[in-house]
Amino acid sequence: MSRIKPGVSKEEAKAKLQALFTMQTKHKQIEENMKKIKYKIGVISGKGGVGKSTVTANLAIELASRGYKVGIIDSDFHGPSIPKMLGVEDKRVMATRDKKMIPVKGPLDIKIISIYFFLPDPTSAVIWRGPLKKSFLEEILASTLFGELDFLLVDLPPGTGDEALNLIQSVNDLTGLIAVTQPTDVSALAVAKSIDFAQKAGVKILGIIENMSGFICPGEGKLYKVFPGKGGEWLSKMFNIPLLGSIPIDPGLAEAEDSGGLYIIEHKDSIFGREFKKIVDSLLRILK
Ligand SMILES: Nc1ncnc2c1ncn2[C@@H]1O[C@H](COP(=O)(O)OP(=O)(O)OP(=O)(O)O)[C@@H](O)[C@H]1O
Ligand SMILES: [Mg+2]
Repeated sequence: MSRIKPGVSKEEAKAKLQALFTMQTKHKQIEENMKKIKYKIGVISGKGGVGKSTVTANLAIELASRGYKVGIIDSDFHGPSIPKMLGVEDKRVMATRDKKMIPVKGPLDIKIISIYFFLPDPTSAVIWRGPLKKSFLEEILASTLFGELDFLLVDLPPGTGDEALNLIQSVNDLTGLIAVTQPTDVSALAVAKSIDFAQKAGVKILGIIENMSGFICPGEGKLYKVFPGKGGEWLSKMFNIPLLGSIPIDPGLAEAEDSGGLYIIEHKDSIFGREFKKIVDSLLRILK
């Protein structure tokens, strides 16, 4: 407990103690909430637009389709995209009388909480300062009624910024992180930085996923290599972290994500669908 310095007024001391009490209560609530969840996994990348949200959404779909209870926290404060990808953008988060948040129920009973649900309209921008992001994430972790879950997946924004650090600091027993990259040097080097950051913060990287490993030509269905650079294999060797798998660019997937469709359920036999299943198999093996 921090000391109240001499010379501090009674009101200031009272406010400080109150703030300390609120913080301790919040941390206790987070601990209680997180205890009910078996695996808590963040999805990171040093780079924007490589497919973190795509990976998060499809991991959730695949795991839920195998009977696991899954929840998602979309902690991308500047570009929340999970609600659109899972077709629940019209829904809103409800609150109980004691101010707990009831997450939105998505397809396959996936429980979703996203900053998107709190925005007045989908195109409005919010100016988020660092401390506000931290307290909002803590509020989500402390007050969302996820209940018992097998998996809680946290979709993070690009980079090694506030959100990743806040997650690591707020969830003591984080299972680990999954790093997403593309087969380009620019992406691999940015992702290498975020892996280094996570390792320095003492968090385990469970595996690497290479996205956009090639392009599936519509109609023909053939796979073409598009990017020639360093990819998942390079990162895997450099950090001695398993490569969970590589997924191609599939125009059908992008279309499905824009309309909230469950591509890997509806197109189980697509290359993307098959590769994604292998990724989940590898992840489950690692977690055993
Ligand atoms: N393998 C893929 N095949 C086709 N489209 C893809 C693939 N991966 C991602 N996309 C599309 O590319 C866009 C960017 O992907 P996504 O939003 O998942 O990236 P992100 O890393 O979460 O981005 P941000 O850094 O902005 O959060 C989306 O429109 C998504 O549908
Ligand atoms: Mg994203």
